[in-house]
This record gives sequence, structure tokens and C-alpha cells, in this order.
Amino acid sequence: MSNQFTLTNIGQLVTNDPNLGDGLLGVIRDAAITVNDGVVEWVGQSSQADQSTRTIDVGGRVLIPGFVDSHSHIMFAGDRSEEFAARMAGIPYSAGGIKVTTNATRNASDDELRRVAQSMITEMHEAGTTTVEIKSGYGLDVETEARSLRIASELSEEVTFLGAHVVAPEFANDPDAYVDLVVGKMLDACAPYANWIDVFCDRGAFTEVQTQRILEAGMAKGLKPRVHLNQLVQGNGIRMAVDLDCASADHLTYLTDDDINVLAASDTVAGLVPGCDFSTRSPQYPRGRDLIDAGAVVALSPDCNPGSSFTSNMPFCIALAVREMHMTVDESVYAATMGGAMALRRSDIGHLGIGARADFALLNAPSYIHLAYRPGVPMISTTWKNGNVIYTKGDLA
Ligand code: NIG
Ligand code: FE
Repeated sequence: MSNQFTLTNIGQLVTNDPNLGDGLLGVIRDAAITVNDGVVEWVGQSSQADQSTRTIDVGGRVLIPGFVDSHSHIMFAGDRSEEFAARMAGIPYSAGGIKVTTNATRNASDDELRRVAQSMITEMHEAGTTTVEIKSGYGLDVETEARSLRIASELSEEVTFLGAHVVAPEFANDPDAYVDLVVGKMLDACAPYANWIDVFCDRGAFTEVQTQRILEAGMAKGLKPRVHLNQLVQGNGIRMAVDLDCASADHLTYLTDDDINVLAASDTVAGLVPGCDFSTRSPQYPRGRDLIDAGAVVALSPDCNPGSSFTSNMPFCIALAVREMHMTVDESVYAATMGGAMALRRSDIGHLGIGARADFALLNAPSYIHLAYRPGVPMISTTWKNGNVIYTKGDLA
């Protein structure tokens, strides 16, 4: 049976290709899209669609590229809701909470870790996300880090070794000995399951010098670098991240004008995670508007993790980017799709040009603006990945 199909009567088709439609998002109105073998074969006006293929009339709804989530920490076990409640009652966020999750993660079975991660991925599909990067980082020992990555590699093709999330409790008095372990035995055990390496470079985690050592060790093993920077304090790691050609530098709640200019002149994407700033009640949000005005590429991600940001929901982050970081709706939708793809150095996802992967989401809304205009309201009708339905609310005829 042919696996070719056409969606017609799309009120707005967001292609993210300005050559195909209007504005930054390349919007085509009254559009159709034909998919063949999991890939976009044709996009254009609905009136010109090939009606000989299997055709589904989507009733004027909006079709967008699936969200690309370039930053998640979903290999974990345990619950930190009380830490959240205490934080909202005035106790500030610190990197130290990670160790609570470490205990639970080490004690969890493979099945339990798989079940938690899969349930987060299911939530993501329900909210329109079709690609998610998954980090380790709650094991902090060789066995649990490798186990986390092995399971993550069953669930995603974008897998990141984050053994350097914080110093493992056993090494509290000798952080450099933990770094030795990370770049030695732990990296050897983990590299076969990962394609990225990441470090949490911040107060309470790792210094710039340690970060550079760890990223370079990973790169020598064939892993590509990305990095957590400037979440809790204004650090000095931006130049290093750019010089190492990190695909993204993430969080960036604290940035100088100089940092912004360095990022703007680089291929390193600014990965902003406003759900984390929201859930940690950060004194400020990242300077999304200034980054875009300077010419930097911005990606948005929920940063799904049990400590600082326990949301998997990209539309919520779009609403925060618009409301709190003064990005336009178009810039925010672009950052959640194409920006995420660029943060993963992928050209086959994040857009719906011909030849792109048929990863997209249908919105129960007359305009993509509703993603920010109706915060907290679930509006995904159906999500496709590689041309296959991975979630449907059941409202697609
Ligand atoms: O991205 N910043 C470091 N790591 C996570 C938080 C981890 C935790 O608190 O469990 C983050 O926010
Ligand atoms: Fe993170």
C-alpha cells in the first residue's frame, strides 16, 4: 500500500522557508502538503494539490513543523515537588538539588527509567514535539550514566552525555578527581551511546577550566559539544563555547552585551529555556530580544527536568518567550522549530520544505498566534513523525 498522502484545506501552513510563503515563517494560506515515504514531497495552494493521493481535509486548521526540543533531562526517577513548593515559599534554587534525583536514579531499574522517559516523550508528542534531545546526568557514576544513555538511545537519535552535571556526592571533597573519572572511565563507557557531550558550567557545578577539559575529551572521542552556561551567575564561558564550536550554549539567563555580540558572530545557537527561569523564579529572563536583534540564532526548549523546570510543553515556552523575553510570536515559533533544529545541527527537521522529514503538528486553532495567545490551553489535534501519526486527539476526520 502506498504511504503517500495529502493534507488539504490547511488554513495556515508554517513552512519556515521564506521562499515558500510569507514572512520569517514562510506561511502559505489555504495550503496543502503531500507526504511520500515519510518525507515532504510537495507544498503549495490547496487548489493545486494532487487529489489522486489519499487526501485528508483538515478543515482550515494550522499545520506547523513539529517542535524540536534540543535540551531535556528526562532520564531520571523520583519526585522533587516539595523542593519546588519550598522554593516558591522563598528558598532559592541551587544546583545541589540534582543530588536528590541522583539517589533515586541510581536506585531505579532500567524499566523504571524507560517508563519515566517514555511518559515525558508521550507528553511531548501531545504538545506537538517530534524530536527531543535526551541528556544523562542524574547517575553521576559510570554504571548509571551508561545505563541512562543506553536507554536514551533507544528513545531518541539525539543523545547527550552529561556526566558533568554536578560533582558526584562521593567526590565532594575532590572535584578534580570526579572530572578525571568523567573524562576517563565514564566517557569510555558512555561515548558509544551518545552523539553529544554537555557540561553544566555554573556556580555549584563546574568551572570554565573543568568544562573545557571535559568538552575537549568528549570531542576527542567523536562527541559534538554543547554546554549549559550562565544559568545562575554571569560566567565567562561564552568565548570558550564559541571557540569550541558548541552547537548551542543553553540557559544564558545572565549575558553581557559582549557575550551577545560573540554569540551573534558565531555558529553557536543561544538555547533559551524560559520554563526554567519561570519555575526557579529567576530574578530575570534571558535577553531573547537583544540576542535576536544582534543577529544570534535562538532555540527554545522546556528543559524538561524534575528540578528546575518540570514541564515538557513547548507552547508554554513560546508564550513565555513572547511575554517575558519580548520575542515576537513569529520569532518564538521559529525558535521552537527551526531554532531547535539548528541547535542540533539538523537540516532535515524544523521546517516543511520539500525533502524535509514529515514531522508536523496540526493545531486546533485558526492561527499559529494562538500558541502564545492561549497560554496553557492544549491545542494539538494530531502529531506526525516521519509521516506517521504519533498522537491524535481523535478529531481528525
Ligand atoms: O538544566 N542546569 C542544570 N541542570 C538542570 C537542572 C537540574 C536539576 O535541578 O535537577 C537544568 O536546569
Ligand atoms: Fe538543562
